Amino acid sequence: KHKVIIDTDPGIDDTMAIFFAFLHPQIDVIGLTSVFGNVEVEKTARNALVLAEMANQNIPVCKGAAGPFLHPKPGYAKFVHGEEGFGTVAAMEPKGQLDPRHSAQFIVDMANQYPGELVIAAIGPLTNLAIALQLDPSIVDKVKQVVIMGGAATVPGNITPVAEANIWNDAHAAKMVFEASWDTVMFGLDITNNLRFNQAFLDKLTDGNAKLGKFIDETSQFYMDFYSQDTEDRACCFHDATPLAYLVAPELFDIKLGKMVVSTDELTRGQTAFCHKDKGFRPPWDSGPYSKVALGVDKAALTQLYIDTFAG
Ligand code: BDR
Ligand code: CA
Repeated sequence: KHKVIIDTDPGIDDTMAIFFAFLHPQIDVIGLTSVFGNVEVEKTARNALVLAEMANQNIPVCKGAAGPFLHPKPGYAKFVHGEEGFGTVAAMEPKGQLDPRHSAQFIVDMANQYPGELVIAAIGPLTNLAIALQLDPSIVDKVKQVVIMGGAATVPGNITPVAEANIWNDAHAAKMVFEASWDTVMFGLDITNNLRFNQAFLDKLTDGNAKLGKFIDETSQFYMDFYSQDTEDRACCFHDATPLAYLVAPELFDIKLGKMVVSTDELTRGQTAFCHKDKGFRPPWDSGPYSKVALGVDKAALTQLYIDTFAG
């Protein structure tokens, strides 16, 4: 079983990712660490705890960074995820309490408790991971893998013409995470933007798991409206579930190794420029640390994996 911390800003596609991970028999979610992003961190922390309780998961849920490392302010995505982070579904109050630790401290603690085993699935801005690296640089050698939803290596961005929202929200943190010498795998808009899911898919999730599927269906309606503005078919992208699916079905993905350079310049902030290893370019493109990036996926098999996992 993969021991996984999900670092998250729920968030509608975060909800899909978290429930998928809870339901998959090969994934052991040992904690949720929240970060600002789609909405304020007070709300993402609350929502993360609500999701854990909804799925009867008695695990630590932490509150983390309220804003980026160096950028002046967070850029929320309430026009995509709603005021409270769950579309038009009203805010819910959790029954239990948050873990008292900062998300970054929890990541450090778990990396030290499970050396060589811990996987971090980062599906929000990368601020908590960057803080964790500063708190304890030794975690780069202890964390088994960091799977990231973020970036756009070969396609345009979604929050600016060149940047994807998670990376744009804290480009300095992202740069630190990609430049650290741990095993990073990026799942960006290159693949996630083409993975569109419609109402028939949501109905199948609910057929499989009435409670959790229904919650995804309800929260996703507002999200689908946003994603359907420029398309004929009403559908949406569950970006964040992709790296979790990779953990249990890596064979569905086409993964390339190379150098990821994150721009912290104001105009191109958050751009993730990727250069395949051995391309023969000059510095800084010709040396590691290298990252992996997903550039292809078997959509039909991935869709079936989601449906089967909800069906249990
Ligand atoms: C990413 O940004 C957030 O709005 C989503 O939850 C996802 O993590 C997509 O760009
Ligand atoms: Ca997210």
